[in-house]
Amino acid sequence: MKKIVVLTSGGDAPGMNAAIRAAVRTGKHFGLEVYGCPFGFQGLVDQQLIPMTPEKVANCIQQGGTILKTGRCQAFFDQETRAEARRFLAAEGIEGLIVIGGDGSFRGASILAKEGPAELAVIGIPGTIDNDIPGTDYTIGFDTARNTALQAIDKIRDTASSHQHHFLIEVMGRSSSFLAVDVGIAGGAEIILVPESNLTLEQIAKKLLQRRSSKLSSIIVVAEADQPGRSVNLAAELQALTQMPFRVCILGHTQRGGSPTTLDRKVASSMGYLAVKALLEGKSQLMVSLQEDSYTLQPFPAENASPRRFKSQELLEINDILCA
Ligand code: F6P
Repeated sequence: MKKIVVLTSGGDAPGMNAAIRAAVRTGKHFGLEVYGCPFGFQGLVDQQLIPMTPEKVANCIQQGGTILKTGRCQAFFDQETRAEARRFLAAEGIEGLIVIGGDGSFRGASILAKEGPAELAVIGIPGTIDNDIPGTDYTIGFDTARNTALQAIDKIRDTASSHQHHFLIEVMGRSSSFLAVDVGIAGGAEIILVPESNLTLEQIAKKLLQRRSSKLSSIIVVAEADQPGRSVNLAAELQALTQMPFRVCILGHTQRGGSPTTLDRKVASSMGYLAVKALLEGKSQLMVSLQEDSYTLQPFPAENASPRRFKSQELLEINDILCA
């Protein structure tokens, strides 16, 4: 193998730059020519490759976002578009592709790899703030996003407590609740409102009313649960049930940016290195995975696989005791 390409795809996640840097520098170490493809799969559709040197990735490890840019490319789900991209890669002599992204990006990567030709090996690096990719316990960006959300919650708590206000704070995560549960616990949320919770809105209202004398303000962390903005309606419903006013803060895309934490930089650096090693060992159609503190290579999630979901009811029960 002589030439490889790295691209970032889907939503940006802090730490993607550390993974790009690691792939470029590992590639250089092993004598490969490394190229970057801008704007994710769109760059392949547009037939764009940028030569990546170790110097090009200097000073990016601490930056959020992705220096290669990213996007969600619908065009890539068209077979003829992919065939065109493959012809382009073959003409450029590209034998290895590293895709850094989430489940949608891995679907694109996996289809591309399966369709062949066999000369094109594809390895994935899980990067999404949602931490929702089946087959890995961790995805790059999750730790930074939860710390960003936690800082916001701490700040809102100052205001909530000063004014005796009740807040719903909505966090991202698409259909997975990992972000909501982690920041809910760490932020001392009075309620963590996630689809996995058994609590009905009526029960939540009852709890808030019961605690009213001792809790003059409260923070309810809401998972977006595939319906971004749903906390506005939830606030109205809770208000109707309790006659208490609720304020809403949707943290939204603030959670995607920012300088990556130590954990994200460290995991991304290892995963970038391991992705290149996997290509050099002739592996393909696999993603680098972190499970129980060990890095392994796992198959891409099946095309119709559901996102990884939060399961630990115990965490919700613990929070219910701690926030009383
Ligand atoms: O997958 C990352 C994520 O930030 C989700 O948490 C969120 O639901 C979605 O992307 C938002 O996507 P977009 O940036 O396209 O609005």
